[in-house]
Amino acid sequence: MAVTGTLMGLDREDWPQLTYLTSQAIAPDDPEFIMPEGGAATLQRAHRELFAAFEQSMSRRKGEGNGDLIDVLRTMEMDDGRKLRPGEIVSNCYSLLLGANVTTPHVPNAAMLELAKDGKYADWAAHPELFDSGINEALRWSSPASHFLRYAKTDVELSGVTVRQGEPVAAWIGSANRDSAVFADPYEFDIRRDPRNHLAFGVGPHYCVGHAVARIALHELFENLLEQFSGFEPAGEPEHLHSNFIAGMKHLPLVATRRSEVRAGV
Ligand code: HEM
Repeated sequence: MAVTGTLMGLDREDWPQLTYLTSQAIAPDDPEFIMPEGGAATLQRAHRELFAAFEQSMSRRKGEGNGDLIDVLRTMEMDDGRKLRPGEIVSNCYSLLLGANVTTPHVPNAAMLELAKDGKYADWAAHPELFDSGINEALRWSSPASHFLRYAKTDVELSGVTVRQGEPVAAWIGSANRDSAVFADPYEFDIRRDPRNHLAFGVGPHYCVGHAVARIALHELFENLLEQFSGFEPAGEPEHLHSNFIAGMKHLPLVATRRSEVRAGV
């Protein structure tokens, strides 16, 4: 949220509420987010409030603005010379905030659970040349976006199954990223693997538009963790998000040891 809120120029005091609403939007049935009225009502409320927040943020702005992402959406011209309509701007805000907020945090979550085991964190910290490889492995391993859907343009045969023109096909990213024909020992978290061919950001024309921002955020985060902490130990069971859309964790209790040897709970 700190990265995307800054990029989009969203008011800092709204960040906690926007973070909560994005969680409700992707996991409306999760016991931590569901309202007494049920999952469908939770989803509707989250969508309404998110769109209202974007609409407010947009309508407070004047002229060229500060050049943040919402200002760019407000002032840019399309190929045909027209500007985006207000509805198109808030829809893009929704895609951008959701696309960023509900995915990026789950990469370090999933990776930290593995790194906290069997001396893997210390091994990574001792080998700075494996920094990028470890981040690629964290992306493969976590695969926060669980699936995307496409419709077949023509009849096509996939692994002996015929998919007819117009039929929907769900691609399960976490499953593809554990394909043993592509990744040796796919259920092993291995910082030496450097899996550049993972599909965590999708593939083709809709390849994640925020992949560079996500990579910068992950670099910053892991760089800071490795610099400040010498180790992590599990301190309880992780709690997973109740969602088939996003694979993620809500809570991951760890005990961190600062490089200065001061112990701190995180
Ligand atoms: C590790 C973090 C991220 C992961 C795993 C991820 C994953 C994905 C995937 C798999 C797609 C393709 C969906 C499809 O083909 O239907 C996608 C698209 C998209 N992502 Fe991300 N994303 C991440 C970070 C971000 C960030 C930081 C932003 C915004 C700054 C963002 C915004 C979007 C948007 C707007 C799309 C739609 C692009 C289009 O349809 O052309 N994502 N993302």
